[in-house]
Amino acid sequence: MKSMIRYLIIASLMLGWLGLAIAQPQTGSNVPAPGSGSGVAPATGTAQAVPTGTANAPATSPTGTAAPSTNTGGQAWYDILANKPIEEQGNFWLPRAVNKAADDSDLMYLSVLALSYFFFFAITICVVWFCWKYRHRPGHKAEPSAAHNDALEITWTVIPTIIVVFLFWYGWRSYIHVVTPPNKAVEIQVLAQRWNWTFTHANGVTDSDLHVPSGTPVRLVMTSTDVLHSFYAPAMRVKQDVVPRRYTYVWFEATKPGTYRLTCAEYCGTWHAQMACQKTDPHTNACLRRAVVVVHAPGDYERYLADKQAESDNLPPAELGKKLYEKKGCNACHTVDGTPRVGPTFLHDFGTKVPLSDGSTITMDENYITESLMTPQAKARPGYPPSMPSFQGQLKPKEITGLIEYIKSLK
Ligand code: CUA
Repeated sequence: MKSMIRYLIIASLMLGWLGLAIAQPQTGSNVPAPGSGSGVAPATGTAQAVPTGTANAPATSPTGTAAPSTNTGGQAWYDILANKPIEEQGNFWLPRAVNKAADDSDLMYLSVLALSYFFFFAITICVVWFCWKYRHRPGHKAEPSAAHNDALEITWTVIPTIIVVFLFWYGWRSYIHVVTPPNKAVEIQVLAQRWNWTFTHANGVTDSDLHVPSGTPVRLVMTSTDVLHSFYAPAMRVKQDVVPRRYTYVWFEATKPGTYRLTCAEYCGTWHAQMACQKTDPHTNACLRRAVVVVHAPGDYERYLADKQAESDNLPPAELGKKLYEKKGCNACHTVDGTPRVGPTFLHDFGTKVPLSDGSTITMDENYITESLMTPQAKARPGYPPSMPSFQGQLKPKEITGLIEYIKSLK
């Protein structure tokens, strides 16, 4: 009996330590923030500061806090949000959940973790202590093992059974909730490709950052053009494989506006760790910013859709091309500073004669660029792996023109 009490005391001390670790605050910023030095989200141009009262007038923001719909310093307000440092909060174990359905799974995770800790320490301490207490020593007679003890055996069968059945029931209920999106969910198409994401919204707007409304369920319909990828947004507690020639789904309801991490969680080739890199350090090749999930304040998602559409309608071709170069993931393989990467650089390329794998040469012109976008392997260049994906059906004619004009501008 005394031993029982002693190990219970030790176990509760361990649990107390665990509780402290859980409560320990941690800033979730893991991505270096280009542009703004402070780790805390600055209030620059933050459309998220718009009070909910303006939700009915999404196109105009009379309050001074919201950035205007037009570009500010070359950056649209929604890109400023996307470029903000990651502002996940949380503790040692997890970033704070911003998905409504995540409360259940977090509770589940922590309960199972705490239970495991409890039994791990309780059993280990008993084993070590009994070994010491009943060890063979002079003057100590070995005690015969008990054949059985009904009270003990019933206790250690019934209590764990209740715990396990409860965990199963709770887990099953949460699982059904997590895989069943509500009917009124906003649907966003997701296309994964080596090495970027393309998010297509209901009005045709595409982006490589995922912009979503808050307080509204969002359902992602995902597929891949090449290999397995995995959509992973830790703060939303969603991780789902994205599979070629098949659709997979996740849904979440973001509870707090902000900028959150988004990563590919399935190894998909050379640039997997940098998938959807939006900005690379020209010297070290390190990724300075990857694609993110931007959760908008009420009303701002609609404003984003309208403004984003206007932007792609109004940009000069070369500027549109530059945007696409970053947004479509061209920058993962092609540099614009002269260094070859997975593919050839774009610098000083246009108008020159380039060698082909079959030994011939071709002039790098509008036709060659277009053909390389649609059927990349048709006239491949030697010394590079055949990993360029086809952009057939993914680029509008004016976007192709934009990319050509951008490459032209680099000559
Ligand atoms: Cu895409 Cu890893």
